[in-house]
This record gives sequence, C-alpha cells and structure tokens, in this order.
Amino acid sequence: MKILNFGSCNIDLVYSVKHIVQPGETLAAEGMARFPGGKGLNQAIAIARAGAPVYMAGCVGEDDDMLAPLLSDSGVDLTYLRTVKGPTGHAIIQVDEGGENCIIIFPGANGAVSCDHIDQVLQDFEEGDILLLQNEISNIPYLLERAGEKGMRIVLNPSPYAEWMQNIDLGLLSCVILNETEAGCMAGTGQPLDFLEQMRISHPKLDVVLTLGSAGCIFQKEGMLYRQPSFKTNVVDTTGAGDTFTGYFIAGLYRQEDTEELLRIATAAAAIAIAGEGAASSIPAYETVRAAVDHMVPNEAD
Ligand code: RIB
Repeated sequence: MKILNFGSCNIDLVYSVKHIVQPGETLAAEGMARFPGGKGLNQAIAIARAGAPVYMAGCVGEDDDMLAPLLSDSGVDLTYLRTVKGPTGHAIIQVDEGGENCIIIFPGANGAVSCDHIDQVLQDFEEGDILLLQNEISNIPYLLERAGEKGMRIVLNPSPYAEWMQNIDLGLLSCVILNETEAGCMAGTGQPLDFLEQMRISHPKLDVVLTLGSAGCIFQKEGMLYRQPSFKTNVVDTTGAGDTFTGYFIAGLYRQEDTEELLRIATAAAAIAIAGEGAASSIPAYETVRAAVDHMVPNEAD
C-alpha cells in the first residue's frame, strides 16, 4: 500500500500581532518571519516525520528555494512534484498573542495542477493505495473522480472549506478529517455534530474525524464513536496543528495502529506542534512524540 498526498506548497509569511486586524484597521506587526507551509506540504511532512513513506504531488514555482529541499530532507518522495512557471503559492498569516491565527492564501503554482498532471501521477497508483487531499490545489473534482475509479482509499481534509464541496460524491471517500467550522458547513446547518449524524445514516462506511481544537477530537468509525481529549500545551502558534494531526493519523492508518492509540499519538503530535513557531517547522518527529506522550496531561483532567 502506498500513500499519495496531492496538495499545496506555500511560503508562509507570518506576522506576529497583538490581535487579528479588524475591518478598516491598520496594525503594525511586532515581528515577521518566513516559514514553509501549505496544507499539502505540512501533511506530507507530518506523515514522513511520523515514520510512514509518502509521495507528494503538486506544484511549486521556479522561485522555490525552500519547499522542495525541506520536503526532500524530511524524507518525502518528490517524484510527482512539478516546478512550473510563475510564483510559488504563499500565505499571509497573522498570529495573535494567544497563538490564534487567520490566513489568506494566494494559490500561485498550486493553481497549476492540471488534469494531465493528475492522470500522469495516478497511473502509478492502484486500488487500496491511500490518497490524501486538502482543498488548496486546482482540479480536485477531477482528481476525486479518477482516484475513485481506481478504487484508491481517499481521505479528504476539506480545508479550506468551499461551497463546491457540497457537491462532492461522499461515496468516493473512505475518510473525512475536518474541524468544527468545516463540519458545520459540510452539514449545511452550522452544527458540527450534525455532520457526524448525517454521515452515520447516509454513509455508514465513511470514517469521520471531527477535530475540536482544545476539546480534542471525535472519530466515528463503523458505528462506533471514539473520543480523544487534547493535551495541555504551551500555545505559541496553532498554525498547522490540524495538518500535524492529519499526517500522524494517516501514518497510523498505514501502520494499522490500534484506533485509540492512533488518536492519542496524533493528538499529542498536534499539541507539540502548537508549542513551536510555524506550520511545517514545528511538526515533531515520531520519537519525540512517543517519548512525550505518556507524560502529557489531557485537558479533561481539570
Ligand atoms: O494549515 C496551515 C496552512 O494553511 C499554512 O501553512 C498555510 O500555508 C495554509 O495553507
């Protein structure tokens, strides 16, 4: 079984601010740094650092001097990463004093993923291989259809949420990993738990992981509900916490880890990532997570 992550690569321009800028307000940032990011890149690196083999497909621009080298150094296979004309995608991120963020993305090269590129990549994958997708590259509906025809196990992280996602054939997917906002939108009611209930009835074979920030996560699988509290951590920057969780979750699936342990490790990895700056830069190695997890305190312990 192979893991293919078809997704975005961004340069994150991170501005430290007292508070997230308000409409009409001009605010001086207290610091600025340039980090590797993009939900695709972050999740690929998390999978690799969690110890599973992963192929990254997507596009960077000719100006990329940071992202492909980092992916490669992290052990991600770059056979399917293309360099295209035009700028690499970037994100403008504000991080406030509480570690919360808000993000604007400029797709750049991420918008150059073509149907031809998708066909070329998918010809090397087969039934049962895992395909991990987020929503920051072009032609995702085509990718979903082709991968579905092949019988790949498609895991979708519908992030950032976009309205077209209401039309996705959920029957093509094996698993959805999403946060509260995304689940509320996918449900169409604004209520995240409604998505779990809707899927339990309409798509009972679809696994759903609902991440709830400091409240941990809920995993709905084959009619069972697993709950995992988050761990106490020193919140520095929440950017990429969800990506870290997703990458570790996929690596756990690949290793066929026990479900409860898989959730515990993925949650611990996300908590460690939150304590560092940047998205990809703060994703911990598997040994770090393993060494830390037994000493970590669940948030429910209050
Ligand atoms: O999930 C965090 C990521 O979202 C950032 O790295 C940024 O690039 C955006 O894609």
